[in-house]
Amino acid sequence: MVAKRVPLIAGNWKMNLDHLQSIAFVQKLAWSLKDAKHTYDTVEVAVFPPFTDLRSVQTLVSADKYELTFGGQDVSAFDSGAYTGEISGAFLKSLDCTYVIIGHSERRTLHHEGDDEIAAKVAAAIRHDLVPVLCVGETADDLEKHGPSAVPVAQLKAALAGVTAGADIVVAYEPVWAIGSGQAATPEQAEQVAGQLRLTLVELIGQDAADATRILYGGSVKSSNIAGFMRQPNVDGALVGGASLDLAEFSSIVQFQKHVGT
Ligand code: 13P
Repeated sequence: MVAKRVPLIAGNWKMNLDHLQSIAFVQKLAWSLKDAKHTYDTVEVAVFPPFTDLRSVQTLVSADKYELTFGGQDVSAFDSGAYTGEISGAFLKSLDCTYVIIGHSERRTLHHEGDDEIAAKVAAAIRHDLVPVLCVGETADDLEKHGPSAVPVAQLKAALAGVTAGADIVVAYEPVWAIGSGQAATPEQAEQVAGQLRLTLVELIGQDAADATRILYGGSVKSSNIAGFMRQPNVDGALVGGASLDLAEFSSIVQFQKHVGT
């Protein structure tokens, strides 16, 4: 039987909002979602603030019992030691992080992270009982040269090379050309790649885990285009960048079920 996947709407804040701003934002988000609760069925909402905000977000979410999950935007491949500037998965776990983003295209490009490092980070996340949100996606050049799925599928295989069957992961398909460009993929493009990613997951982690894995689309997601993505059978949510910093927009994206029927 195919597992029912709870949709996940995740906000990647990137390097935006300091810890004081994060408190105000998370409070308002939680209130707006509480008010809207009756308008949608189950959906999981996660935020990915900068590291320096995580303690504030943890305190708020646990004290006020907000139905929000959260995680870091990166993790070290190492557990502790002389790695100046790095953050251990153990530290993220002790702050109640559920998730950690790994392999975002901005880290692949700006920090030259390659497949081996990303695979080591995925292993580190799993070692610390964090769910990796593994980002994969092709550049415009890759798309032209290799078609839509080849690069994301290759990145997925490389990142999960050391992962055992049954692993609990989230995959985010984020075409690099769609990130921050205002030009999202079409829902059909997202579904085509997500379908290929799921078939690859069957080979890598087995049928049951592949059926249970949430595959998100990311890249210029807004309230006006979320419904199209959420109608696709293999797209189980979104990783939202810019629009996740706009409370009204993000709250409306979370309530995508209001738009799906329209
Ligand atoms: P935008 O939603 O700003 O295009 O960013 C997507 C992204 O990079 C999420 O990780």
